[in-house]
Amino acid sequence: MSLPQKLNQPREYWDRLFAPSSCLAMITTVDAQGRVNAASFGTCTRVNHEPVYVAFTTSIGKDTANNVVATGEFVANLPKWERRILEQVRIAGLPFAPGVNELEKAGLTALPSMIVKPPRIRECPRHFECAVEWTKEWAGRLMVVGKVVAASVDEDCVDPEGYVLWDRVKSAHFCGAPYNNGFVAAYQTLFVDRPYDGPEVQKQERLEKEMFTIKP
Ligand SMILES: Cc1cc2nc3c(=O)[nH]c(=O)nc-3n(C[C@H](O)[C@H](O)[C@H](O)COP(=O)(O)O)c2cc1C
Repeated sequence: MSLPQKLNQPREYWDRLFAPSSCLAMITTVDAQGRVNAASFGTCTRVNHEPVYVAFTTSIGKDTANNVVATGEFVANLPKWERRILEQVRIAGLPFAPGVNELEKAGLTALPSMIVKPPRIRECPRHFECAVEWTKEWAGRLMVVGKVVAASVDEDCVDPEGYVLWDRVKSAHFCGAPYNNGFVAAYQTLFVDRPYDGPEVQKQERLEKEMFTIKP
């Protein structure tokens, strides 16, 4: 079976590619020696529209935290809500020793990134290459915020304007251990009206226009 080509998306499509705003992710990093690491994250969220920023939290002392601090780069790879890749997500979430390549352990394929050193994961349809903007230690966790510097997607997962095709992308959320490691699919769309006609509607439309305008 031939694999879809990756489309390198232009900057004006990056925001629409990370949707819903919070998605299950596998984060790839490299350590100071260039060794590849991958781990799974339920906390990965798009936190700014333009420029596009992506955030997640990880435990202090974990390989991802150490690598992000050491190298200042990561890639957020968003898997589909499909059994095989979700099984691989669970393997990547195991506590392997530093220096172990979780992609190999999980049977996943490293694909060189366009800009950053950590690789993309071939089996994921969407990738966000990030330069670390800031990190903050808090409650035993490391909050990481990265600026997206490149984004790519399987060619069959977006329309010509870069909007996600939900039934192809099949974005997933992680329910966490209390739900026995369940994963929820998030790809049904319901477009709803806003039955209100006060002045806040125009105000909101102006705000949104500003918020999404690409800055030079
Ligand atoms: C589906 C899934 C979601 C996870 N989400 C998170 C998360 O959001 N934050 C976190 O710190 N760990 C999360 N974990 C656990 C990490 O993946 C795990 O601690 C892993 O060993 C970290 O690897 P590292 O040492 O290579 O960074 C998750 C695990 C799984 C399987």
